[in-house]
Amino acid sequence: MKTVAIIGSGIMGSGIAQTVAGKGIDVLLSDIELAIAEKGKAGIEKGLGKLVAKGKIEQADADATLARITPVGDYARFGEADLVIEAATEREDIKLQIFKKAGEVLAPNAIMASNTSSIPITRMAASSPDPTRFCGLHFFNPVPVMGLVEVIPGLATSQDTIDRMKAFGETLGKTVVLAGDAPGFVVNRILCPMLNEAIFVLGEGLASVEDIDAGCRVGLNHPMGPLTLCDFVGLDTLYEVMKVFHSTTGDPKYRPAPLLQKYVEAGWYGRKSGKGFYDYSGEKPVPTR
Ligand code: CAA
Ligand code: NAD
Repeated sequence: MKTVAIIGSGIMGSGIAQTVAGKGIDVLLSDIELAIAEKGKAGIEKGLGKLVAKGKIEQADADATLARITPVGDYARFGEADLVIEAATEREDIKLQIFKKAGEVLAPNAIMASNTSSIPITRMAASSPDPTRFCGLHFFNPVPVMGLVEVIPGLATSQDTIDRMKAFGETLGKTVVLAGDAPGFVVNRILCPMLNEAIFVLGEGLASVEDIDAGCRVGLNHPMGPLTLCDFVGLDTLYEVMKVFHSTTGDPKYRPAPLLQKYVEAGWYGRKSGKGFYDYSGEKPVPTR
């Protein structure tokens, strides 16, 4: 793999770009417009700076990683990519438009992958130029730290595509798990209903934000409480995920918690907007209820 193109330079697109470039692979990083992709690269530079300051990596390695990431404003150079990874907002309409447009310049043997958290792969593959070369490639946040990648074949995904995606995940130093094509695949199928349930528990007034988080941190040894994790993932993303679970299966157990909907409607998306179940404007996060 020589060049990887990434669509979406938010939390996940940036994390994937940093990880891929850190393995010596060139990255074309795009978003709705060049300025956003450049902002994504600036965020990666800041993150790498912290790792240098902590003595985790050398300045020369941080510089080399950064030099391999090229922000772009359109798909003109995407024909150079061996792999295109879509990591844009968790909305099927947005993703389908991306697959159509990026598909027009996809190289003949290149793979198109989606980092979606929940949307069925077979359904999205139908909007790509070649469903045999379309696959789910699900990273975890923060990508440079989390050791897992799920590879999710759609109905038409070829064995060659699966093998190449597994090999790519291993090149990045990740553990690769093959997951079936159902909403949320394996890990999010288990995690997201738990996060949604934590919001029901809060909405029913059973415990405070801090006690729900402390309960799971201390009682279950989770590194973060569920409401902190919701803010970390993005409440907008979690809301879209639960809507996909609910609409695709028709099972009422997956309905988004009303309080989740309310927070999203208020624009309280979590860390990325500065406020969610906690307010991040001060030195330490403070619960918002
Ligand atoms: N880039 C590189 N390294 C990073 C990093 C980043 N963005 N963020 C943290 N790190 C490194 C730190 O340098 C540190 O390294 P050392 O241990 O070598 O010192 C290590 O990660 C731990 O970081 P911190 O000490 O700053 O903080 P922490 O101990 O609180 O850990 C955490 C932070 C790794 C995020 C931890 O809290 C955690 O694992 N939380 C749970 C994360 C999780 O569940 N992710 C999955 C979300 S669900 C998902 O991704 C799927 C989906 O579709 C929604
Ligand atoms: P984010 O909100 O941080 O970033 C999304 C980015 O997509 C934004 O920069 C936005 O400008 C861009 N975008 C929107 N429409 C676009 C378009 N038409 N073309 C190009 N870019 C466009 O979201 P995120 O957390 O990075 O999530 C991205 C994807 O990764 C989603 O599918 C999400 O479900 C998935 N995911 C998220 C997490 C997580 O913990 N946040 C973990 C795994 C997978």
